[in-house]
Amino acid sequence: MLASASALRRGLIAGLFAACVCGAPLALSMVSAPSTSAAEETIEKAMDTMKKNARALKPLLQEKDKAAEALPLVVEIEHAILAAKGATPDLVNEIQDEKKKAEEKIAFRRAMIEMLGETLKLEDALIEGKMDKAKEHYEKLGKMQKPGHDRFKKDD
Ligand code: HEM
Repeated sequence: MLASASALRRGLIAGLFAACVCGAPLALSMVSAPSTSAAEETIEKAMDTMKKNARALKPLLQEKDKAAEALPLVVEIEHAILAAKGATPDLVNEIQDEKKKAEEKIAFRRAMIEMLGETLKLEDALIEGKMDKAKEHYEKLGKMQKPGHDRFKKDD
């Protein structure tokens, strides 16, 4: 009876040890980087916000007195871009060559920085009530979509 109790205890300790050793890398990988799908979800959500708000923005920019209405939409786009900037597209994560992957990560980050810059200029133009200038920045933003998607977005 005594022997079987100590055998049980030994088994329990061995089991716990195995769980810690095997579970540690998994737990570490969970805290060290978001999973690919989480990063991709962030980009997807940000892009959906951009599309929705850009559509709502377009008619407002045609009216001289709609700057105040347009501003919160622009600010929301800024937040979306900021969230996407910290993520990495699946297409980049799947690159095998580590040097190339690092280059593409930086290129994506810089593209987000450029988009954010253009959106901030759009905001500034709206604050000034300069709708023509706001439209110019809006157009520039729109022109970033195709090259961005050609380089970083998986085909649907
Ligand atoms: C006005 C500019 C842009 C608009 C309106 C836009 C819009 C969108 C939309 C609607 C999607 C599909 C999201 C979904 O699957 O639900 C998307 C995906 C994506 N876009 Fe953009 N985009 C723009 C610019 C860019 C730029 C400049 C880049 C990169 C430099 C970029 C990178 C991506 C990536 C990586 C995805 C894939 C995310 C995913 O589906 O999980 N986009 N975008």
